[in-house]
Amino acid sequence: MGAGVGRDEGVVGPVVVRTRDELDVARAGLRGRVGFVPTMGALHEGHRSLIRRAGKGGPVVVSVFVNPLQFGPGEDLDRYPRTFDADLAVCAQEGVAIVFAPTVATMYPDAPQVTVNAGAMGERVEGITRPGHFAGMLTVVLKLLNMVRPDLAVFGEKDAQQLALVRRMVADLNVPVEIVGGQTVREPDGLALSSRNRYLSAADRATATALSRALRAGADAVAEGPDAVLAAANAVLQEAASAEPPLERDYLVLVDPATFTDVGPEHRGPAVLAVAGRVGGTHLIDNLPLGFPA
Ligand code: PAF
Repeated sequence: MGAGVGRDEGVVGPVVVRTRDELDVARAGLRGRVGFVPTMGALHEGHRSLIRRAGKGGPVVVSVFVNPLQFGPGEDLDRYPRTFDADLAVCAQEGVAIVFAPTVATMYPDAPQVTVNAGAMGERVEGITRPGHFAGMLTVVLKLLNMVRPDLAVFGEKDAQQLALVRRMVADLNVPVEIVGGQTVREPDGLALSSRNRYLSAADRATATALSRALRAGADAVAEGPDAVLAAANAVLQEAASAEPPLERDYLVLVDPATFTDVGPEHRGPAVLAVAGRVGGTHLIDNLPLGFPA
């Protein structure tokens, strides 16, 4: 097993494990309700908040693994930020018990043949922009859940479609784990925290705030119904399309939170306003849960 990583005087960091055997040994030592936060590293305040949520009832396991299966051709697999030492420091500060940081060979000793099919929901919205992404994501999440065997696992609400798909997979495949959503953490100007924000220049960042501004404009129009919400959000995105650099919109949708199918103009009840676009080549997503009163 990897040695515990000492941080500050008196603070014992997480046990770092890289193989399945090491994980089994470390996991066997955990008592209580084990919480799990799967990550691809480059940890930020949003991850800290997921870790705190996961640790409410007991010890926390964090995985750090940039999963090649969920990146498409031409996406940012190679340049995805890898900041393991800093990630470990965050985990130590948050009192994480185990950091599981497997290699690609540990996770995929053979080219995977049997994978999770993300179904129709996986082909909607973000699944159109990133074909195959959700199948790769669900496959690694199921593998990690089987390896870590947590009582609960926490996923960020910022990736609302990912969270909905994980919930659906766990229900459909009877995976014995509770799935919990962790609130999106935002910068003071509204930008949702994301590991990909590191790619943004100061000018990119200014344009990128259009995503959260569009969501807020949409939320302000809830009383006037779904069409008004979409129109208000659309106006913000249209303006950002001629900013410098421009926001290149991938989608703006108002969907059912459980299925990610579009809701109609007469819709009442919960919905998710989801938006995605590219700024300076960086793909960014955001969403806001809304409620349409009867
Ligand atoms: O949200 C992420 O960081 C990833 O999709 C996850 C859940 C860690 C799977 O690789």
